[in-house]
Amino acid sequence: MKTWVIVPAAGGGRRFGGPVPKQYLDLAGKPVIQHTLERLLTIEPAGLVVVIAADDVHWQRLPGAEDPRILVARGGAERADSVRAGLAALAGRAAATDLVLVHDVVRPCVTEADIRALLAVADYPGGALLAAPVSDTLKRVDDNGVVVGTEPRAGLWAALTPQLGRYAVLVAALAQAQQSGCEFTDEAAALEAAGYSPRVVPGRRDNLKITRPEDLALAAAVLASQEAE
Ligand code: C5P
Repeated sequence: MKTWVIVPAAGGGRRFGGPVPKQYLDLAGKPVIQHTLERLLTIEPAGLVVVIAADDVHWQRLPGAEDPRILVARGGAERADSVRAGLAALAGRAAATDLVLVHDVVRPCVTEADIRALLAVADYPGGALLAAPVSDTLKRVDDNGVVVGTEPRAGLWAALTPQLGRYAVLVAALAQAQQSGCEFTDEAAALEAAGYSPRVVPGRRDNLKITRPEDLALAAAVLASQEAE
């Protein structure tokens, strides 16, 4: 049984702003995407698919473009479209029961230990994901910024990536999501909708997602502190 990695990296970063997509911005001396790919390659997957935007002009200039372990696919309008393109690129390469890890390119601080902890539950049939228990109090807020309720946080976890599933199961679940017109922002939700019950694996809270400009400085601090560990 082999392990494959798909890295959706076709997002334009609407919430981040700026002309260069956030995955190509400098983080501690190299582009965000390079950090992410290096972390993922530590587990020595059978192959890694990076899914880039149709109009991407940045990828070709990076060292990863020359790496024989890395395949390139063209993404779509939504994250789920990009993940489907990554899965399609593995057709004929991945066996039905091979493991597939899907990891957001904008999470460059993921650790090898967390990825291995996720892989350790690969035998669980419903898929799995790194996640962290919610620690903030959650407010429901209306369109005017007024609090309309406080949500109980017991049992709530924030979904991180990587997320893990068997190749054929993920292909079927994401196809089903597309057919039902119900697109999800992570693979676990597509698995849930297909009747599976993915399990969470507690992940480090510093596996942060670069979403806004201030997150770059946080990620740089995390990388520095991880290096010192
Ligand atoms: O936009 P957001 O930050 O939620 O994106 C999460 C991940 O999905 C990022 O790695 C982004 O590059 C990727 N994505 C994609 N194709 C899209 C939209 C997002 O690969 N159409």
